[in-house]
Amino acid sequence: MMVRIAPSILSADFANLESELKSISSADLIHVDVMDGHFVPNLTIGLPVVRRISEVTRVPLDIHLMIDQPELWASKYGEFCESVTFHYEAASSPEVLITQIREAGAKPAMAIKPSTSFAEVEDLLPLLDMLLVMTVEPGFGGQSLIESTISKVSSARAYATKNELELSIQVDGGITIENIGLLAKAGADTFVAGTAVFSETNRNSQIDLLRQRATVE
Ligand code: DX5
Ligand code: ZN
Repeated sequence: MMVRIAPSILSADFANLESELKSISSADLIHVDVMDGHFVPNLTIGLPVVRRISEVTRVPLDIHLMIDQPELWASKYGEFCESVTFHYEAASSPEVLITQIREAGAKPAMAIKPSTSFAEVEDLLPLLDMLLVMTVEPGFGGQSLIESTISKVSSARAYATKNELELSIQVDGGITIENIGLLAKAGADTFVAGTAVFSETNRNSQIDLLRQRATVE
């Protein structure tokens, strides 16, 4: 699988979003965290702001919905974004959501919190383009990676290989230059990085460095 780096704009300066977006032009995807203050104890941005973001960057958007009732919103994002990720824990019917997102024209992806086991979701993998294994509790940037989540990445990659699925495996939370290689070895190919990208002055060279470290021979 091709390695993709997806900077999370949660760590960007929201008062200067357009220039922040320009500073990550070498990204493969831009990760946008949509939080509702209910599913997670934090609140970010919604549809009108995300739509404006899509108009000022050429990099495809990767939407991470941390909201209750994702079925009310997923296809609206799907109309103009590359991929839409909903949380398994918030979905009343994952199968219906997956179909909605695909019909809207985007790649369906599903996220699991650190406390959700891989076994609980494995039967859904053949329907998905991407599984997001959360490596921190969703809600805030700048946390440290929970190491016990890494085995879910290995299980998902083993399942995908065995069943010949073209599945992307994304990891999100606490990704650094130091640990990205380990996650890549476990089988992840799409890496979200907020703090690790936006704390640097030269974001594009940091993105390139992350990509290099994630490329396993
Ligand atoms: C956390 C979000 C992440 C967050 C990652 O709930 O889903 O995308 O921005 O931030 P870092 O890379 O700083 O852990
Ligand atoms: Zn995220």
